Amino acid sequence: MNLENVLVDLKENIGIVTVNRPNKLNALNKKTIDELHLAFKKLNEDSNVKVIIVTGSGEKAFVAGADIAEFSNFDIEEGTELSRKGHEILFSYVQNLETPVIAAVNGFALGGGLELAMAAHFRVASSNAKMGLPEVSLGVIPGYGGTQRLPQLVGKGKAMEMIMSASMISAEEAKEWGLVNYVVEQAELLPLCEKLAKKISQNSSVAISAAIKAVNANYTNCVNGYSVEIENFGLSFGTDDFKEGTTAFLEKRKPNFD
Ligand code: COA
Repeated sequence: MNLENVLVDLKENIGIVTVNRPNKLNALNKKTIDELHLAFKKLNEDSNVKVIIVTGSGEKAFVAGADIAEFSNFDIEEGTELSRKGHEILFSYVQNLETPVIAAVNGFALGGGLELAMAAHFRVASSNAKMGLPEVSLGVIPGYGGTQRLPQLVGKGKAMEMIMSASMISAEEAKEWGLVNYVVEQAELLPLCEKLAKKISQNSSVAISAAIKAVNANYTNCVNGYSVEIENFGLSFGTDDFKEGTTAFLEKRKPNFD
C-alpha cells in the first residue's frame, strides 16, 4: 500500500499500523485519517491478519491529537463535517472492526490520539506515555468519540475531570483507572502487544468478531446488548470454528481454526 503518513507492516498474522508524522508528533490531519481508514480496511479484509496493532512513529508520541493547524480556520459546518467523517471512517470504524485492534500507546496520546487509542479494543502503554483530552484548552470539545468512550472506560467523574481540566495523566494513572491494561518500558511495548496478539490469534476469529459485536452493543444507544449477545451466541453454533473448537476439546487436542 502506497501511503504517505501511515506505515503498514505484517508480522506473520499480525498487522501493524504506524502513524508516521513524527515531526508533527503524529498529529491526525485529514490525509492521515483517510490513510488510516485504508490501512485498517485492507488489513481487515485480509483473512491472514488475525490482530491489528496501532502505534505511533518515534519515541515521543502515539498521536498528539487532531492537526490543530489544519482546523484552526474551520467554521461550524466544516467542524461538524470533520467530526462526522472522522467518526465514520476511523473512530467508529475501528471500534466496530471485525479484526481485534490493540493500541500500543508509545508516548503522548492527546485529543484525537487518545480517542484513537480508545476506539481500539484495548490499550497497552509505555511508561513514558501521557494521556489527555486537552480540547477545552483550545475552545473546542473532543470530537472523535472522547466524550463517550472516556466515561465508558474510566467512569463519568474521572472523565469529566480529565475533559474539564484538559490535563494529562501518566501511564501508571491510566492503568489504575482502567484506561490501559498494561504499562511496560518502551522497548517492551511492541513485544508485549505482539505476545498478546499471538495469544488472541490462536482463538476463533469468527467467534472473536461476534464477541466484539456483542460487547460493543452495550455501548450503542437503542440497541439491547443482551439481545445482540443472544443472536451472536446462537449464530456461533452454525460456524465451522464452533465445530472445530468443541470437537478439539472433546478429542483432547488443540483446535485448528485456519
Ligand atoms: N496539531 C498540529 N501540530 C502539532 C500537534 C497537533 N495536535 N501536536 C504537536 N504538533 C507539532 C508542533 O506544532 C510542532 O511542530 P513544529 O516543529 O513545526 O512547530 C511539533 O509537532 C512538535 O511539537 P512541540 O509542541 O514542539 O513538542 P513539545 O515536546 O514541546 O510538546 C506537546 C509536546 C504534545 C505537549 C505539544 O505538542 C502539544 O500540546 N500538542 C497539542 C496537543 C493537543 O492539544 N491536542 C489536541 C488537539 S484537538
